Amino acid sequence: MKKMMDLIAEELAEAFEKAGYDKSYAKVTLSNRPDLCEYQCNGAMAGAKTYRKAPIMIANDVVDNLKESKYLEEVNAVNPGFINMKLNKKFVADYLNQMKSEESLGLEKTENPRMIVVDYGGPNVAKPLHVGHLRSAIIGESVKRIARKMGHKVLGDIHLGDWGYQMGLIITELKRRQPELPYFDEDFEGNYPKEAPFTIGELEEIYPTASAKAKEDEAYREEALHATYLLQNGHKGYTAIWNHIMQVSVSDLKKNYANLNVEFDLWKGESDAQAYIPDMIERLKEEGFAHVDEGALVIDVQEETDTKEIPPCMIQKSDGASLYGTTDLATLVQRVQDYHPDQVIYIADKRQELHFLQVFRAAKKTGIVPEKTDLQFLGFGTMNGKDGKPFKTREGGVMRLENLIAEITEEMYKKITDNRTVEEAEAQATAKVVGMSAIKYGDLSNQASKDYVFDVDRFTSFEGNTGPYILYTIVRIKSILNKYQAEGKALDGLQIEAAHNDSEKALMLETLKYNEVIENAFEEMAPHKICAFIYDLANAFNRFYHETKILAEENESVQKSYVALLVLTKQVLESCIDVLGFEAPERM
Ligand code: ARG
Repeated sequence: MKKMMDLIAEELAEAFEKAGYDKSYAKVTLSNRPDLCEYQCNGAMAGAKTYRKAPIMIANDVVDNLKESKYLEEVNAVNPGFINMKLNKKFVADYLNQMKSEESLGLEKTENPRMIVVDYGGPNVAKPLHVGHLRSAIIGESVKRIARKMGHKVLGDIHLGDWGYQMGLIITELKRRQPELPYFDEDFEGNYPKEAPFTIGELEEIYPTASAKAKEDEAYREEALHATYLLQNGHKGYTAIWNHIMQVSVSDLKKNYANLNVEFDLWKGESDAQAYIPDMIERLKEEGFAHVDEGALVIDVQEETDTKEIPPCMIQKSDGASLYGTTDLATLVQRVQDYHPDQVIYIADKRQELHFLQVFRAAKKTGIVPEKTDLQFLGFGTMNGKDGKPFKTREGGVMRLENLIAEITEEMYKKITDNRTVEEAEAQATAKVVGMSAIKYGDLSNQASKDYVFDVDRFTSFEGNTGPYILYTIVRIKSILNKYQAEGKALDGLQIEAAHNDSEKALMLETLKYNEVIENAFEEMAPHKICAFIYDLANAFNRFYHETKILAEENESVQKSYVALLVLTKQVLESCIDVLGFEAPERM
């Protein structure tokens, strides 16, 4: 369906032209004075100079040509030259009925589906999954779902950090602790053990220990760097350890992401890029894109128009080891070869902006990706605690994701069972679902690039701009619909009538924005716009609910119309929370 804003703009454009003005002035916006009107056009003011006329005269001319409008029931020219508009109630009802009849709820899928790879999550294998990776997972999952909803072909890739120095550190520490293991015996000929020599718990202790030692002890650091190099170059025993690390960590990661309702299509990692690295480097050298600078192999990415220095993209260290940029470039080689993406979106901490700028430029310049491929970086800010510093546990340590989820779920559980008797199993399940909305909405309702404060009390509140409030609203609608059905009345075949009162019309005007909001959120990669929308929509619904007797309404067709609007509102809310990555319980 055409977006409401476009329909009005079209009619307005015609009116501008009929009145002898250029239609480019017919821009429509939502009213910033909802007490006066619903939509407005400020084009008369913009045209005043061109036409050497007072804006109000232009506005009057345009309004004269809108008397026959199909969409508007009230149009006024107001000093100094605003055109204020109110939508025709019958037309609004028709629009909503049309939405209701379409499975897409009036959202027009793209005419040109693109192949999009979303690179998100990006946890580092063997390091505990901490809140820093939470944002990437939450935002990326939403961006992926929004793109899919728009009809694009999307692949979500977790891009594990599994090929770097941390692997060398673990190998080194393991060698210190258990030198007798066959992995360290260079002459070992047999089969390595199937069983990993550590559990996930041990692994998570080994990494920080090794990392701390390497910072103190230069020889240790050298050894870890060398182990990394050997691993990257196919050392048999180290590869076997690496496989163990992967097995143990990946099953743990899968569990964690499943808990978050985050689903990756691809579980590839930096290590998968290795196969593409030697040929890539060879070609880049041959074609003169890469040159040696202070022992390292680099690609210059500085451009003439840059106002500040952009350092070259490093692709090989002097010891031959690959770097972060190397694996990202080689991963692009693989992605282009396997998926031919039109667009690749990376979701990572905004402090990685320079890295991605270097990689994108190097990839374009060297032809690793075609010029037309869109490479986009969506950088997010830091999740802070109430003290304004990066979020920590109460003890000041790094907060593990599982613990954070457990803490929120616990808090929700308390709220749900407070003064109420709920069956234990249901209370647990509901606490989990509502807790998830608290975490995800709390994150997504902020513009991604901004830092935000993770405030458990605020995020778990049933009031205000929170996930639980949105779910509470959906549950309220479900409950009304259930009662309606319990009276033996059916939900299908209901028609929405022209609004009977103001709060109903206000709810209608919010509901019909759905297609525009989703489209816009996709274009701007901005899930927070969907949050802002559902918050407004939930508020509009609750106002309507408080001002209207729905189940007690005696006029049958009016009641049917109310219920039909509720059904649509619920569908819109559910579709929105689905792209945000959470769901609503039946009760709460
Ligand atoms: N593993 C990285 C980190 O923890 C994030 C990976 C982002 N994606 C990428 N293709 N570089 O910082």
